[in-house]
Amino acid sequence: MSGKFITFEGPEGSGKSTQIRLLVEQLEKRGLEITCTREPGGTATGEQIRNLLQHDAAGEPLCDRSELLLFTASRAQLMDRVILPTLGSGGWVLCDRFIDSTMAYQGFARGMDLTTLDAINAFAIYDRKPDLTILLDLDVEAGFQRLEKRYADSEDSHDRFEREARAFHHRVRDGYHKLAEREPERFCIVKADRSIEDVAADVWNAVNGALL
Ligand SMILES: Nc1ncnc2c1ncn2[C@@H]1O[C@H](COP(=O)(O)OP(=O)(O)O)[C@@H](O)[C@H]1O
Ligand SMILES: [Mg+2]
Repeated sequence: MSGKFITFEGPEGSGKSTQIRLLVEQLEKRGLEITCTREPGGTATGEQIRNLLQHDAAGEPLCDRSELLLFTASRAQLMDRVILPTLGSGGWVLCDRFIDSTMAYQGFARGMDLTTLDAINAFAIYDRKPDLTILLDLDVEAGFQRLEKRYADSEDSHDRFEREARAFHHRVRDGYHKLAEREPERFCIVKADRSIEDVAADVWNAVNGALL
């Protein structure tokens, strides 16, 4: 039996990490074996790529094509080493960001050619798309306010994407909506401007309805 593959998408601060954690708890309570991972990252190679991508760690600005291909390299590695083996043995995979982040950020927000990005994504994942993609939809300003609170309590600093202008993030959010319209059977849009518990209840209903 093949397992199930769920991805979480949405703008900065929309609650992806929070909701994945809660969904893992719910699924594990039901006796399912869950592998939880993230992009970029999720493998030793991918985590090094993440560092390059998030903070210009090599000391020079990344050009758009390098950025795209580094994300894609991380994805291909995650696919081969984690996602496909887990699904093949009947496990469930939850992933924090995936192919749709490439379309929203590099495509709709940076303006790279969408047809090219679709082809590169398909290559990286052998066209094995998620069974369900939860899109946490949140107003851009509200997301940034949440992040400010989080940073006030930690030593982390804003990454390259968080430092982009607000207009960039509006294109990300609108781009996600277009992606959901393009594949309504894969996407479930959850309104994220509510309490953590209310959002989690909708996420649970979506997973239950689509996959259990
Ligand atoms: N529904 C919510 N209402 C208020 N704050 C939230 C909600 N969901 C998450 N947060 C808080 O907002 C911040 C960003 O959430 P996080 O899950 O890290 O978002 P993301 O992973 O999408 O960037 C965290 O400090 C988190 O505790
Ligand atoms: Mg997160």
